[in-house]
Amino acid sequence: MIKVSHLTKTFETKDIKVEALKDVSFEVNDGEIYGIIGLSGAGKSTLIRCLNRLEKPNSGSVEIDGVKLEDLSDKELRIRRRKIGMIFQSFNLLMQSTVIDNVCFPMTIAGLNKKQAKTKAIEYLKVVGLENKANVYPSQLSGGQKQRVAIARVLASSPEILLCDEATSALDPETTKSILTLIKDINQKYNITVVMITHQMSVIQEICNRCAVLENGKLVEENTVDELFRNPKTEAARRLIFNTSNKTSKLSGGKLLRIAFEETNSLDPVIANMILEFKQPVSILQSDISSIHGNSKGQMLIQLPKDEEIANKMIEYLNKKDSVVVQEVE
Ligand SMILES: Nc1ncnc2c1ncn2[C@@H]1O[C@H](COP(=O)(O)OP(=O)(O)OP(=O)(O)O)[C@@H](O)[C@H]1O
Ligand SMILES: [Mg+2]
Repeated sequence: MIKVSHLTKTFETKDIKVEALKDVSFEVNDGEIYGIIGLSGAGKSTLIRCLNRLEKPNSGSVEIDGVKLEDLSDKELRIRRRKIGMIFQSFNLLMQSTVIDNVCFPMTIAGLNKKQAKTKAIEYLKVVGLENKANVYPSQLSGGQKQRVAIARVLASSPEILLCDEATSALDPETTKSILTLIKDINQKYNITVVMITHQMSVIQEICNRCAVLENGKLVEENTVDELFRNPKTEAARRLIFNTSNKTSKLSGGKLLRIAFEETNSLDPVIANMILEFKQPVSILQSDISSIHGNSKGQMLIQLPKDEEIANKMIEYLNKKDSVVVQEVE
């Protein structure tokens, strides 16, 4: 288990002070895929770098399997770090080495002889579906293939934890999906705990069990992915959830409502019946269906009439429906 307690990190340069992390606490269970979502500059990379102590927090602690990283000697920390793999948006491969040599690298560092390392590397390349690319150079690979090599290289160090920092942000949606599927596969096959950092709600929805929302260095919300989508409690979470959809422009008019629903209990009659009952028009600004662990969930953004009395009655009406969760948004 990873236990993060009251983590604070401040960067101080000559004239500015940035509080990148402010009293952040959370726990990740063994075998879990835990997501951390936030906008650019929220402190995500700083946080993930504290998890393997590439970054030293000002205060607070990171405990892995009951051992506080700050209590380890440099040598113990190096050994501990070998069990923590990391993948990045930019892949970080050795460009002058072939694919197989990239995968062999951590194993030869750990003392395996070349032949043993190659045999294992081929096995890991098979897991990521790239055994036929063993002898090419990274420059001859697509982005998705490069990330597969990076994942094979991580597997070569037999990690217990995999940290992913925007691992799919440079990839198109199809390739993103295939890499996320691969990460889920290795999570299950090797029982690797995964911490996934991203600014994309769709990534979280695809594979995470639980997730935390980071805003300006603060952990403002934590929940199961299902519940966060259904009923986000903070403005930060709502903004991130809507970011996955097309932009909308607010019409001049009344209140905006976000309505979350299960696709199976079809929303249309609820809205249609409301319009019939109140005999007032409602604008649908945005509507989309997302997949969370393969189940369809929907959200809709509607604008109520300007008349506040009617608008409030409509909110009351919608709140009485069990099939939807209604929230006012700004
Ligand atoms: N080495 C550093 N020195 C000074 N400030 C830093 C340093 N590293 C990060 N920061 C600042 O800390 C804040 C958080 O940065 P961080 O890289 O963790 O954000 P992020 O959530 O990963 O953003 P992005 O999504 O753009 O990668 C930012 O304001 C950043 O400018
Ligand atoms: Mg970052």
